[in-house]
Amino acid sequence: MDMNINILAIESSCDETAAAVVRNGREVLSNIISSQIDIHKLYGGVVPEIASRKHIEKINQVIEEALLEAAMTLEDIDAIAVTYGPGLVGALLVGVAEAKAIAYSINKPLIGVHHIEGHICANFIENKQLEPPFVCLIVSGGHTHLVLVKDYGEYEILGRTRDDAAGEAFDKVARAVGLGYPGGPKIEKLAKEGNDRAIDFPRAVIEGAPYDFSFSGLKSSVLNYINLAQMKGLEVNKADIAASFQRAVSDVLIDRALKAVEHYKINKLAIAGGVASNSTICNSLIDVCKQKGIEFYFPSKILCTDNAAMIGAAGYIEYKKGIRHGMDLNAIPNLKLGEK
Ligand code: KG4
Ligand code: ZN
Repeated sequence: MDMNINILAIESSCDETAAAVVRNGREVLSNIISSQIDIHKLYGGVVPEIASRKHIEKINQVIEEALLEAAMTLEDIDAIAVTYGPGLVGALLVGVAEAKAIAYSINKPLIGVHHIEGHICANFIENKQLEPPFVCLIVSGGHTHLVLVKDYGEYEILGRTRDDAAGEAFDKVARAVGLGYPGGPKIEKLAKEGNDRAIDFPRAVIEGAPYDFSFSGLKSSVLNYINLAQMKGLEVNKADIAASFQRAVSDVLIDRALKAVEHYKINKLAIAGGVASNSTICNSLIDVCKQKGIEFYFPSKILCTDNAAMIGAAGYIEYKKGIRHGMDLNAIPNLKLGEK
């Protein structure tokens, strides 16, 4: 008897239509991503209505490709995992409706997955030896969370952003310096030509909340810096702005993560989400963790930004725990981590 569990995973919470086949939670047999970035960048950010329409257009094709690349048919699939929140409701609904239809037609379990749990679990795919407990920093366009992964599928949120997410700050600063959407990779590239100590942008500390973040003050400070220079008729050095801003984000992320690792005496740190694909931030974390003797884990870039392989990895954990959703599964745009 085949003891392998093959999960077909679907992700459509924002602007990527994605499907993957994942075996036993850590082996990715296929990982197909259809990005909508080229359309949304015309508008300077994700347009929810367009995102939903594009998901509808692409989802069947992406699933077919995922099965083809895994050399499987739906008969080989043991369960369907799908992101059901948080995210854009219209976008989520496309994936959820599709997953329900497939699960119903092949009479296999349906598992709703939390998008952030997916990001965290991206770390299990390439780091076969990684096991909880560990501290995980999730930094994406919609979320900035510091989470204690107590066990498989057991999460305690230690801190979160009070305002903008880290990726959102990258996107807004990129717009201010005239770079397009998404801003993260463009800021990272420009920052390589700049001096990261040229401008002293603020690093917010929130009293009484040692693991919380705030990026809106930093973003405003960058905007003020640019406006002030414009009013005085001065040229700004955009590369210096990008590098100094990126360093400010990096310093704050490292500070909070190290505090948590120290306080909880857990010598393992992981990072996840779109901002984790920033090599400068990742390299700083590698260095500081090496100095302090902390094990540091990060997914490869393709598993940092939104994908379905991570949903398959998280879906497997939920599957093993016996979590099954019914045909009444709905999209929950503000789903909290740990809610079932
Ligand atoms: O995880 P993700 O694909 O989607 C969400 O769940 O939000 O993250 C997208 C975010 C965007 O804000 C993008 O600007 C940011 O991740 N990002 C980066 C980099 N690549 C993507 N931020 C900083 N540096 C990067 N290299
Ligand atoms: Zn995401």
